[in-house]
Amino acid sequence: MRVLIVGSGGREHAIAYCVAKSGKVDKIYCTPGNAGIAEYAECAPIGAMEFDKIVAYAKEKSIDLVIVGMDDPLVGGLVDELEAAGIRAFGPKKNAAILEGSKAFSKNLMKKYGIPTAAYETFTEPEEALAYLETAKFPIVLKADGLALGKGVLICNTSEEAKEGVKTIMQDKKFGSAGDEIVIEEFMVGREVSVLSFVDGNTIKTMTSAQDHKRAGDGDTGLNTGGMGTFSPSPFYTKEVEEFCNQHIYQATVDAMKAEGRPFKGVIFFGLMLTEDGPKVLEYNARFGDPEAQVVLPRMKNDIIEVVEACIDGTLDQVNFRFEDNAAVCVVLASDGYPVAYEKGFPVTGLERFEQEDGYYCFHAGTKFDGDTIVTSGGRVLGVTAKGKDLKEARANAYAAAEWVKFDNKYMRHDIGKAIDEA
Ligand code: AMP
Ligand code: GLY
Repeated sequence: MRVLIVGSGGREHAIAYCVAKSGKVDKIYCTPGNAGIAEYAECAPIGAMEFDKIVAYAKEKSIDLVIVGMDDPLVGGLVDELEAAGIRAFGPKKNAAILEGSKAFSKNLMKKYGIPTAAYETFTEPEEALAYLETAKFPIVLKADGLALGKGVLICNTSEEAKEGVKTIMQDKKFGSAGDEIVIEEFMVGREVSVLSFVDGNTIKTMTSAQDHKRAGDGDTGLNTGGMGTFSPSPFYTKEVEEFCNQHIYQATVDAMKAEGRPFKGVIFFGLMLTEDGPKVLEYNARFGDPEAQVVLPRMKNDIIEVVEACIDGTLDQVNFRFEDNAAVCVVLASDGYPVAYEKGFPVTGLERFEQEDGYYCFHAGTKFDGDTIVTSGGRVLGVTAKGKDLKEARANAYAAAEWVKFDNKYMRHDIGKAIDEA
């Protein structure tokens, strides 16, 4: 089988790693890919939103299966275009990817079907949003409706901050048309857990849990980023929490999408907050999380192609999920200054060691080849993942391995997984 992966981050590298392990795969392609993915895949410089070119490339290479890793092409309808051209594709169609593409849609869905989430209102007029803030309780959370690279969420402690936020999102259009509508929601307190799942339209099977660290600085300070590190499993995702989510959240979401005439096939990522009143949905994503995928996928024992095909064919109920009984931690190595401004183009060294040591992975996010040299090309450069018998061992291993890699302006958080000490 010939497989094409669409995307260029650590998530797609982790997917490529699993695809390469599958006994069913002869050749892997990736658009656009990066210097790490190039180890497994033939990469072509086609952007993830260049749908016509991706379809033409898939035909030219006689691709049997396309796996779309990224949110933008899913929300934009790449899977629909591939299917229309007779190419098998994994991921939700446009009418289902709206679960991530519109926060107003997902909040309204949860309200309609009684899925636990923060109380909220939606607004398309800034004046109405501002009027609502007059009587609101603080802190409060503002969310641009559409995709905003994970940056469209503002937590506002005061009325002034919130008014400024409405201006930023709806009037200054900092996130473009993603800010045409705004969700204003109750601030929740609790621990966050990410649960990724495979879905075939009817059946949902969840994977092992994980936790992300979204802020740039140690101690959860600084700006929100795409994610600075993850650990898996989360010790806070107990049997009771899982049981609650099975009853009230997971299948309920899949059934709601089906009832709305938007059957979801692909990966649903549940961003959960474990509040005093029980688990609530913070957000849905319509794809693997990044860097969650970098700790979850290396622990999956199943052949990823079998799982993906079961999702497409509607036979997921016959798949038995197996995860390793261990733990993994991923520390993101970023360019200093991320997520705002940073220099790139620096040579990366020390990568060979990951090929020699079992249970250690270096997933590339922002790298490219400059001649034969791998150089930095983005904010998040690499995700260093290590396994261990438990979270503490995995964390120690990941931080040891983070030292193997060198590049100028290397930056990382030093407290990824620190929360496990409180478990
Ligand atoms: P989202 O993109 O919706 O996951 O939001 C990004 C981050 O903002 C989340 O991971 C939370 O840390 C925080 N957040 C979002 N919504 C809320 C909320 N209602 N209460 C508290 N924190 C929130
Ligand atoms: N790690 C969060 C995300 O992928 O959206």
